[in-house]
Amino acid sequence: MTTETKSIVLISKDSKPFPEIGAALKADQQYNYEECSGTLTEMNGRASVLADTHDLILFQTETDTEIDVLAIKRLREANGEKAVILALSGAETTLADAQLLTRAGVDGVLAETISPDELEAEISKRLKPKIQLPALMPDQGTLGKVITIAQARGGIGATMLAVNFADHLLGKVRRKQDKPDCRVALVDLDLQFGSISSFLDAKPNEALYQLSMDGTEPDATFLSQSMEHFPNGLSVLAAPSKLAPLDALKPQQVSKLLQVLQHEYDYVVVDLPHALVEWLAPVLEATDRMLLVLDSTVPAVQKARQLIDFYTEDNLTLQIDLVVSHEKKPLIQGRHHTEAAKALERPLRHWLPPHPKAAREAVDRGVPLSKAARSSSLNKAVKRLVTTIKAELAQAPHSAQQVQ
Ligand SMILES: Nc1ncnc2c1ncn2[C@@H]1O[C@H](COP(=O)(O)OP(=O)(O)OP(=O)(O)O)[C@@H](O)[C@H]1O
Ligand SMILES: [Mg+2]
Repeated sequence: MTTETKSIVLISKDSKPFPEIGAALKADQQYNYEECSGTLTEMNGRASVLADTHDLILFQTETDTEIDVLAIKRLREANGEKAVILALSGAETTLADAQLLTRAGVDGVLAETISPDELEAEISKRLKPKIQLPALMPDQGTLGKVITIAQARGGIGATMLAVNFADHLLGKVRRKQDKPDCRVALVDLDLQFGSISSFLDAKPNEALYQLSMDGTEPDATFLSQSMEHFPNGLSVLAAPSKLAPLDALKPQQVSKLLQVLQHEYDYVVVDLPHALVEWLAPVLEATDRMLLVLDSTVPAVQKARQLIDFYTEDNLTLQIDLVVSHEKKPLIQGRHHTEAAKALERPLRHWLPPHPKAAREAVDRGVPLSKAARSSSLNKAVKRLVTTIKAELAQAPHSAQQVQ
């Protein structure tokens, strides 16, 4: 394989920034490396020239993340997704800061203490796809987005959200013969207690049981034959009726399952189990947006904190939105809300009002809220949530492979 030289620029306010990193990159024949003094904001229009003329920009973050966020947004507007941008952050940068930077368009947030070897690995991982033959690489742009639904306690409304999120992703209510706007797959990875089948009057599906038992990796044909395809365009992989140990499924199998689905569908909505298993790792890696459903009670907030720590341990830039279930969005948030948001280092962003009648009607009929209770506040709240996330995912770079 021929490897062309890649150019890297480090933007740093320090006069002698990261000497070890600089020396290692200068010595590496694969790269043309230069340093620019200043902050990303101080570069003004020059940053977009640097982005046009370099394959990768490394920049040292400012103490005030908002300033960097503005600069990154401006840079992305001018330069699109052409250059890879990596942030080097100090100890003061929080998880929430890292997420803000990622949302603005940064491809990765790395610790300033990163060793030259680790940095080299991060850089070559991000530059590699561009130096491989396009025909050999899957088209990253056409990969479906993965939305993962997690719950801070049992019975909180996570499956209700997964089912209706997938339903609204399909697009407007259409005539029977019309095709849906998007291809959407809904996957019940709550293998032992999954209830998507009862929410949608679908048959339990033994495919995931079979995979757990025989250890094979699913391919496109297996999945297409295993999934139940609904007339409205939704494809569902329900949980099996037979019980298998949760850890019988292997990370490699789940990774392949998601890879295949991402190639076949525009969106893959995953309902997670309320348990921590090894195969969560590939799900988290592929996730473009996680929705963590909770309520504002102390036990739920405490559990949510633990889960966020677990989910982000190896996925620092995983974007987790909080969805407060069974609560109408308050005009003014109470103190317990403010404290919950502070403890969880992110806003209580989406709210799903309590609506037992609508929820019950939908479950009893085995149809989504859009059919059973279209004008209910609950259906409208889910629809709003989907519209927001869909718009944000359309803008965002594909996080799945980038946050590895
Ligand atoms: N906002 C709501 N208002 C009223 N009822 C709701 C609401 N959201 C969900 N429900 C109902 O609460 C019950 C539990 O919901 P769901 O199964 O979605 O929760 P879960 O978090 O997935 O639970 P599990 O721990 O069983 O996976 C269901 O009967 C559902 O219809
Ligand atoms: Mg559930």
